[in-house]
Amino acid sequence: MKTFIRRIIIGLVVLAVAWTVLTLWVEREGPAYRHDSSDVPNGPRALIIYDPDPFYNLDQQVCEAFAAGLASNGWNTTVATVAATHEVKDSIFNLYVICANTYNFAPDWATVDFVKEYPSLEGKNVVAITLGAGTTSRAKRLLEEAIAQRQCKLIDSRTFWLWRPNDEALIQESNVTLAVNMTRKWASEVAEGLKLE
Ligand SMILES: Cc1cc2nc3c(=O)[nH]c(=O)nc-3n(C[C@H](O)[C@H](O)[C@H](O)COP(=O)(O)O)c2cc1C
Repeated sequence: MKTFIRRIIIGLVVLAVAWTVLTLWVEREGPAYRHDSSDVPNGPRALIIYDPDPFYNLDQQVCEAFAAGLASNGWNTTVATVAATHEVKDSIFNLYVICANTYNFAPDWATVDFVKEYPSLEGKNVVAITLGAGTTSRAKRLLEEAIAQRQCKLIDSRTFWLWRPNDEALIQESNVTLAVNMTRKWASEVAEGLKLE
């Protein structure tokens, strides 16, 4: 009995250590990547940011889809990972789209640091996106709270999932394709609804 309990404890400790190592690895700031859309003279400008997940690129696909939806409405867009945002920190954007991955029920650290530290976010239009496997409500709330702390104007905040169906009525379709299509349509609606001074 003693051996059995000892084995269970050792198993739990190994699991906890492995999960901590995995968490630290996925939370490391990812590589710099930036993609600017072709220039629309006098068009409004949006910065769309995320910190890449090392396993899968739903974050990049969703951010590029948001950029495509805006671009189809005459916007200039820059998709950048957090590591690349220093390249554009002196530019002014009409809209900031902040896309976080969820790790352990919280938005990823690099994206939250971006929200806390990026210069001059106060009063800016912001759209929040929270991605995850399927349990994202706490992460979404924490991301929205961090954005509110910077006194931004939160236009909208939505969640897309890798595993949990993004649309219960279309479970036969690829969940990732659904997330991408829904994001593109949503970005178009944001562009149409946004009244810029
Ligand atoms: C250590 C770790 C913890 C995670 N915790 C959560 C979580 O709490 N909730 C959730 O929905 N997904 C969780 N995930 C899944 C990631 O959020 C998911 O892979 C990612 O956000 C999906 O988009 P991506 O392709 O951009 O990674 C976790 C993944 C890892 C590796």
